[in-house]
Amino acid sequence: MISAAALSPGKTLFDDPQLQEDLAEVRRISLGFVSTASPLIRDTLLELFGSGEEKGRGKMLRPALVILAGRSGKWNRDRILPLAAAVEFLHNATLIHDDIIDNSPLRRGQPALHKTAGPRNAVLTGDYLLSCCFSLASRSTHLDNGVHLSRAVARICEGEINQNLGRYNALFSLREYRRRIAAKTAALFCMSLLAGAREAGCPDRLCLRFLRIGYCLGMAFQIVDDVLDYAGQDEVVGKSLGRDIREGVFTLPLIYALIREEDSIGFDQGESLRQLLAHPPYTEETVAAILRRVELFGGAELSRREAAVYLRRGEAEINGLPPGYTRRMLLELSGTLLYRSH
Ligand code: IPE
Ligand code: MG
Ligand code: MG
Repeated sequence: MISAAALSPGKTLFDDPQLQEDLAEVRRISLGFVSTASPLIRDTLLELFGSGEEKGRGKMLRPALVILAGRSGKWNRDRILPLAAAVEFLHNATLIHDDIIDNSPLRRGQPALHKTAGPRNAVLTGDYLLSCCFSLASRSTHLDNGVHLSRAVARICEGEINQNLGRYNALFSLREYRRRIAAKTAALFCMSLLAGAREAGCPDRLCLRFLRIGYCLGMAFQIVDDVLDYAGQDEVVGKSLGRDIREGVFTLPLIYALIREEDSIGFDQGESLRQLLAHPPYTEETVAAILRRVELFGGAELSRREAAVYLRRGEAEINGLPPGYTRRMLLELSGTLLYRSH
């Protein structure tokens, strides 16, 4: 099997000139689309979609997935690039809503929209973007993609609702965590690859492989995201870190630390994680103690290892793609996910 790291010493997916050009066109499509929006919301959207500085923009990972899968079959830029733009609208809508739910003040190194525009406007802007997504997708692409996109929205909502209902639940299991992130994050990775592949006329067998690739990459991506909440630096990640614990969202580093702690009962002194977690809301002192114990039990490291397992599985699937651009680029992407810093 070809290893991703061997293919891409120090390179990132976004150094590829063809992909850069495709994504620049996706940006133009998004900007063109939102510039026709009602004046009530136009300026907010233009700002979100990067008429301004680069640092406020997203990584455009999901549109890149649409494009890469789209390039594995019959490339049709007039359909696939608008579809990629539609996926980015959807993703941004979910982030705007997610920052409200998570009470998170920072996104992409900038104040989150609910901080600048207020929560009411932010909810409505997210809704508006969902409508942009479906309107763009139904205008330019196959009807099936509308079905896939709405399915992705439903799955993301399921994941977020499940997470919200489970806040502060320290009995939360590994299995439940994996199910949750499969819904809230991996589903959109799957859908992005699937929609691109379908639009390019790929046969069913290949589409199914893309679904499996999306699952593995998406799971690894969210695990690393959850690790960054513990182990990243605010300025680099561009989001407010340490939110998960404070908001009662228990993710993989904490779950592994809880499991390890249980295994070490009798050997270890001090207040247990379970005790610390039992009385929300947490003071800053309690948060600091929880973070120390997660570190003591290697929660972040164990989580990274799990992400690496998903990436290896993903790479095995990617290696089953026909040789060429898509396979090479997806391997490069997979090689960058584990040690991404934002
Ligand atoms: C991801 O959830 C957001 C969605 C899937 C909608 P998180 O809350 O973990 O993501 P960040 O850390 O805010 O980006
Ligand atoms: Mg969040
Ligand atoms: Mg969240």
